[in-house]
Amino acid sequence: MTKQPTVLVTGGAGYVGSHVCKALHRSGFTPVTLDNLSTGHRQAVQWGPLEIGDVRDADFVAEAMTRHKTAAVLHFAALSLVGESAAKPYEYYDNNVGGAISLVAAMRRCGVSRIVFSSTCAIYGMPDRLPIEETEFARPINVYGRTKLAVENFLADTAATGAIRTVMLRYFNAAGADGDGNIGEAHTTETHLVPLAIQAALDPRRPLNVFGSDYPTADGTCERDYVHVEDLAEAHIQALAFLETTGGSRAYNLGTGNPVSVRQVIRAVERVLGTTVPVVEAPRRAGDPPRLFAAPGLAERDLGWVATRSDIESIVESAVRWHRSNVFSVAV
Ligand SMILES: NC(=O)c1ccc[n+]([C@@H]2O[C@H](COP(=O)([O-])OP(=O)(O)OC[C@H]3O[C@@H](n4cnc5c(N)ncnc54)[C@H](O)[C@@H]3O)[C@@H](O)[C@H]2O)c1
Repeated sequence: MTKQPTVLVTGGAGYVGSHVCKALHRSGFTPVTLDNLSTGHRQAVQWGPLEIGDVRDADFVAEAMTRHKTAAVLHFAALSLVGESAAKPYEYYDNNVGGAISLVAAMRRCGVSRIVFSSTCAIYGMPDRLPIEETEFARPINVYGRTKLAVENFLADTAATGAIRTVMLRYFNAAGADGDGNIGEAHTTETHLVPLAIQAALDPRRPLNVFGSDYPTADGTCERDYVHVEDLAEAHIQALAFLETTGGSRAYNLGTGNPVSVRQVIRAVERVLGTTVPVVEAPRRAGDPPRLFAAPGLAERDLGWVATRSDIESIVESAVRWHRSNVFSVAV
């Protein structure tokens, strides 16, 4: 395997970041995790050093980058709970937007120019057209989405000066877990459907809320685009390679293009676990579009990225394996 350079992974102790660290290591990179452990787990950092600190501390970040001879940055560190973001706009703008500004300041000081940013389909809000293309007008409908769009704009404007080169990856619904079962989704406050459905199946005292069953979809429940976290991880390796030869800024959807309903997720969990998922039929939540799914063709064309293990069965099987075996999850 070719020896690849050291990369700084902000938020590498979190769910997506830790899977990317494993993929980086597998591809010959040395991932250095920089994380304040606010929502991440020390035990998830297994493939390189951990620098405990805050991405908003530019001096700390620059010192870590210099010491580890960092060649590029993958930026995952963020607060990402939609509901919480409405109640804590200052914290979300400070952490997400302030964090990105201070990170780029440190990169410029250290002469590091490549950055891959974890963006989100939340920047699209209620899209006019499906599947969602990258050219869809970005109109986020929550504070979280607005902070992510603000970071995208900041990175694109900075890239336009030639100071940085960036790929911004707009994940749809990240789900699933590492195939070996040693890392997985372990959010302290869990809001994602797959782990919540597994949790409900394993503990009937915690039934799953199904928010709305009267949507104009095949089975009446919302449809989303689930992407296996290992597929997401691959895209980051491909984005780093792409940035070696390409300047400016690009944004790519990371989704499958196949919408999956809440009931289909529930059925997949029931099949894999061989038990029923107790549900509570709840009213629709404000701001939940009936269907959200990506047109993933641009990522395939430019990065060579295709989701290969994101069928809902594979996602659920890997998530169940993790929930059965994990040693550090506090979520379930
Ligand atoms: N999980 C998803 O479905 C999803 C979808 C779209 C986008 N994203 C984005 O992907 C990224 C990772 O999401 P996740 O689900 O892995 O979240 P996570 O909460 O598991 O991971 C975030 C990590 O960042 C760290 N962090 C937060 N603020 C920090 C700061 N100021 N300084 C240093 N470290 C800090 C946390 O401790 C944690 O380890 C986020 O940017 C999120 O917005 C996630």
